Amino acid sequence: MTVTQSASSQPRTRVLVLISGNGSNLQALIDAQRSGTLPVELVAVISNRPGVKGLQRAESAGIPTEVVDHTLFDNRDNFDQALQQTIDAYAPDLVVLAGFMRILTERFTHHYHGRMLNIHPSLLPKYQGLNTHERVLQAGDAEHGVSVHFVTAELDGGPVALQARVPVLPDDDANRLAQRVLQQEHRIYPLAVKWFAQGRLRMVDGRVFMDSEPLGPSGYPIDNHASI
Ligand code: GRF
Repeated sequence: MTVTQSASSQPRTRVLVLISGNGSNLQALIDAQRSGTLPVELVAVISNRPGVKGLQRAESAGIPTEVVDHTLFDNRDNFDQALQQTIDAYAPDLVVLAGFMRILTERFTHHYHGRMLNIHPSLLPKYQGLNTHERVLQAGDAEHGVSVHFVTAELDGGPVALQARVPVLPDDDANRLAQRVLQQEHRIYPLAVKWFAQGRLRMVDGRVFMDSEPLGPSGYPIDNHASI
């Protein structure tokens, strides 16, 4: 793993974050890193959309930013190649998708195999894709949640690393439910990145291991009391 030396000469995992919009998960990573609970270096933030709030959040935190605007490319492959080049110039150890709203090519996902995480607002494998909160309410589920997973070629289909559960309340609408899920996202994503950086969380042969123990299909369960 490539590492850089911090001022205290502690090795730091190089983390690069991809966003498309608001960047509240990015903010959770920035806050955890700044408070000293997330011992990584946030080397860059890349957005596929110019002018989004997440880019402002990165700039305010003094993190280098880049835009690789997908609308300027005539196909997915060319966009992914440009994105890959931009990412690799920062030599990250881990690529973190935080609200990055693009379908990725197989070639791209292979390149970052075992070193790219995504966060998805559902208890995967349930509700891959969009509008997860609406779909949970329509189905009448009693429980919803969020998953952090390693990225593979299958959209929202890579092995789950961590999950946090959120009860569905009788007066929930999609907005209220989304807010409570988002609160959990902001807890579990910094934790997942920290555990990856510490070498505790790994994907080997398509399976996720935590402290060398293989995890089941729901990953490592995060209860309401766990915190970074
Ligand atoms: C989050 O709900 C995340 O799970 C999903 O997109 C949303 C991004 O939110 N993939 P933000 O940009 O981090 O605020």
